[in-house]
Amino acid sequence: MVETLGVVGAGQMGAGIAQIAAQAGINVILSDVSDDLCRRGLDGIRRLLDRSVERGRITPALRDAAVARLRVTMRLEELSDADFVIEAIVEREEAKTALFRRLDGICGTDTIFASNTSSISVTRMAASTRRADRFIGMHFMNPVPIMKLVEIIRGLGTSDATLAVTQDLAALLGKETILVQDSPGFAVNRVLLPMINEAVFVLQEGLATAEDIDTGMKLGTNQPMGPLELADLVGLDTCLYIMEVLHQGLGDSKYRPCPLLRKYVDAGYFGQKSGRGFYLYDERGKRR
Ligand SMILES: NC(=O)c1ccc[n+]([C@@H]2O[C@H](COP(=O)([O-])OP(=O)(O)OC[C@H]3O[C@@H](n4cnc5c(N)ncnc54)[C@H](O)[C@@H]3O)[C@@H](O)[C@H]2O)c1
Repeated sequence: MVETLGVVGAGQMGAGIAQIAAQAGINVILSDVSDDLCRRGLDGIRRLLDRSVERGRITPALRDAAVARLRVTMRLEELSDADFVIEAIVEREEAKTALFRRLDGICGTDTIFASNTSSISVTRMAASTRRADRFIGMHFMNPVPIMKLVEIIRGLGTSDATLAVTQDLAALLGKETILVQDSPGFAVNRVLLPMINEAVFVLQEGLATAEDIDTGMKLGTNQPMGPLELADLVGLDTCLYIMEVLHQGLGDSKYRPCPLLRKYVDAGYFGQKSGRGFYLYDERGKRR
């Protein structure tokens, strides 16, 4: 049973994971690289909880109890109390392995490490620590409070006990799980990202407008969001990094990232979080 959860990265995924854990009665220590980013993460959680109160989904007392269970810090050392740590930082392998190496020296030997990576090898990240048996992939979906699934990725050395604790944690957080073996992009993004990438090729080739591509996929294939609006929600930087992992890891040219996707990321068009992607957004993330 997880009592204190460490979450590293207070962006859209880390903040979402911290929120649902605090709502499930777990003490959470949420960490990012600056006080400002920590505060922004916490403010975002508070806003979402306030909205839930306004809509009558939770009582003010439940909101206050959840907020009281949340602590934010830019000092990674404060995660030494955590018995389970979920990493949700940028989708870059060097950044993740450097972080896990540090955490390995900070946390107790029993602490389980989970990565919320969308695509990177869990086995390789585990090898950067001395606890490959207590290392696992825990891939939440975006937005975390709404989406039902957690894709659990078993690294080569992940123990049965670690898998069982992780499945129990996901259940406590109200999520359904699927179990996938370690491979680039796992199952969900191995299927999803090539579709998004192909939609960007269709746009790049001028075959249809962004709106028509999205409408076509929504009305024509019954998806709740079109691939380009979904890419804006995921983050175009994250989409590009996942395609690079698929391309390099699987060695097949069919996974090459679309040049237009790369160009947008080079320009700083990261999607909803930066105000511009395939569409434009206001500061609250609403489509203009
Ligand atoms: N966006 C999605 O739809 C989605 C879905 C599932 C999984 N993921 C994965 O979740 C992870 C985070 O994605 P996101 O969308 O929340 O990104 P994001 O850009 O919203 O947030 C990332 C946060 O990590 C912080 N960070 C970066 N390096 C750090 C470090 N060394 N230590 C502490 N904090 C650090 C950044 O300051 C930022 O606040 C990525 O691995 C991504 O692939 C994303």
